[in-house]
Amino acid sequence: MSEKKFNRTTVTAALIYANGPIHIGHLAGCYVPADVYVRYLRAKGEDVAFISGTDEHGVPITIRAQKEGITPQEVVDKYYTQINQSFVDFGIDFDIYSRTSKPIHHEMSQEIFLQLYNQGKFVEEVTEQYYDEKAGQFLADRYIVGTCPVCGNENAYGDQCERCGSTLSPRELINPRSMLSGGTPILKETKNWNLPLDAMQPELEKYVASHPEWKTNVAGQVRSWLNEGLKPRAMTRDLDWGIKVPLPNAEGKVMYVWFDAPIGYITFTKELKGDDWEKWWKADDTRLIHFIGKDNIVFHCLIFPAMLMADGRFIAGADNVPANEFMNLEGDKISTSRNWAVWLHEYLEDMPGKQDVLRYTLIANAPETKDSEFTWKDYQTRNNSELVGILGNFVNRAVVLTEKNFGPAVPALGELTEADQKMLEELALYPAKIADSLDNFRFREGLSLFIEVARLGNQYLASTEPWKVIKENPERAATILNLSLQITASLSILAEPFLPFTATKLREMLNLTDTNWSKAGSASLLPEGHSIQNKGLLFEKIEDAVIEAQVQKLLDTKKMNELASKTPAPQKEAITYDDFSKLDIRIATITAAEAVPKSKKLLKLTLNTGIDTRTVVSGIAEHFSPEAIIGQQVSLLANLAPRKMMGIESQGMILMAEDRDGKLQFIRPGEPIWNGGTVS
Ligand code: 2FM
Ligand code: ZN
Repeated sequence: MSEKKFNRTTVTAALIYANGPIHIGHLAGCYVPADVYVRYLRAKGEDVAFISGTDEHGVPITIRAQKEGITPQEVVDKYYTQINQSFVDFGIDFDIYSRTSKPIHHEMSQEIFLQLYNQGKFVEEVTEQYYDEKAGQFLADRYIVGTCPVCGNENAYGDQCERCGSTLSPRELINPRSMLSGGTPILKETKNWNLPLDAMQPELEKYVASHPEWKTNVAGQVRSWLNEGLKPRAMTRDLDWGIKVPLPNAEGKVMYVWFDAPIGYITFTKELKGDDWEKWWKADDTRLIHFIGKDNIVFHCLIFPAMLMADGRFIAGADNVPANEFMNLEGDKISTSRNWAVWLHEYLEDMPGKQDVLRYTLIANAPETKDSEFTWKDYQTRNNSELVGILGNFVNRAVVLTEKNFGPAVPALGELTEADQKMLEELALYPAKIADSLDNFRFREGLSLFIEVARLGNQYLASTEPWKVIKENPERAATILNLSLQITASLSILAEPFLPFTATKLREMLNLTDTNWSKAGSASLLPEGHSIQNKGLLFEKIEDAVIEAQVQKLLDTKKMNELASKTPAPQKEAITYDDFSKLDIRIATITAAEAVPKSKKLLKLTLNTGIDTRTVVSGIAEHFSPEAIIGQQVSLLANLAPRKMMGIESQGMILMAEDRDGKLQFIRPGEPIWNGGTVS
């Protein structure tokens, strides 16, 4: 850990693109850890500003607008509202959640752009860029797709290949094509303003080297960029959606979205703090921490610091960037386009009031050092065994036993036994242990230490058995329950970063107002006679059926995706109407069905065809039981020449199609048709 002395902390959480709703991967990778950290700092009484908002510029927004057939402004308005609501719902307690489309942000970005420009920090360069002649537009970033030179993915974007993770520039793509018209782009000259990251490499090397405490996944990615050698990067684009480049000769140019977005952190601090904002970005005793997901590492560890260094007026780069890896879902990468995600707004509809259960599961499985996995089974187990079985169980016993035997007030503390002393000594160690985990961004470890405190409480109750002691020695039972309530009070303080809704409920139950972190672990948080109030169970058991419904939802998504990705067979050679009219297809009803002996696949069907009753042998035994299909109407190719199967003559063929599960389905009329009705 670097030894910097600081008096305040600016904590930022990535400005997510306002182009879609958010899912558990976003929470696990960035927002829950950021919120845990900030709540912990606040609990210690530290001065902290927690800043975030939506990124409302760039190609991700305009592409979404095109897809939805609405304007970019409508896209960002719609998703800002939805994303902001999800954060409120899950207790992500930003001091400000703002938007980069606000005029104050345009002003700030232009002011910083000009500061760099006036100091000669940009290198102007005329280069050939891809241009779509049909659309009359340059093709920046994601407006261009082509084959990835690294892995051969045919749908790699102009800035990144999502399959292999390589960062690309449009000119590296093989067979580039325009996302706008689908056509092959031409090359056309245009001027841009570059940040010469190559020239700044020594400064950036020094900055990175001064932070040996960074997480290994972050340091590793940064090192590999530096080892490859940084290249100049254009900070402007030829687009019409974005912040205008404030120069006289820059008609039609906007800022690169990765130039203006991180400046959003500064703008929103100004919006929050008013005249007092500058110290949060300029003072030496301010610590700056960026929470992000792994795909944003290079921007926060190299490019944004380079911008700040070039500007010269700000803290030159974050003190720490505790980025996480990705969280997968039920064995597959979370994907918006494949709808493979647990969306926060849907989760809340299905699991109302269970925000802390999700927070708990996401922290317990946080992708802190490598990609991790969310499964519904694990979610259920964590809830039932840990939240209900350990935390809820302890608190409930402490409160219910107290109320039952002593009324709604903290009973008197008598003489302490050796076992009491030992428990209290252990309890007292936890706040510092958890603090050490959180100070070092090890949130999983912090959470498991927190649960150990509840476990300690359960062990204490199990060994002291106040429910038995009460009969013989009520004073001793009073002491045990007093101490159990003291543990509960500590839990209410220690829960705050991880489980804020539960912490609030606990504080209400205990009427606890002084919840500074330094108070946790003490044996005297609740004085004798202090009134308490049972507010019911903290957590409830989640039944198998609830989990199965969630798993089923994902299985349905998988099926939909498979269906969408099926390639239909190419069209067959053309035939004439005369050819078609030779086929006698008619509606018939199955009147009897039986298995064909010694055959796994065949059923012998009896059909009423309207003109006769006949036998058809059909290869559907693995898909239908004979009883289930009697009475069903089907389409029959009636004039197919009879042929023998397993010694039975089949007089025609039933028409079938495969559904998305690979199961055969009859082609049959939507409404009943008379037997013998022809299909033409
Ligand atoms: O990856 C994203 O969603 C980006 N919009 C994150 C930007 S973070 C910061 F720089 F604003
Ligand atoms: Zn690739």
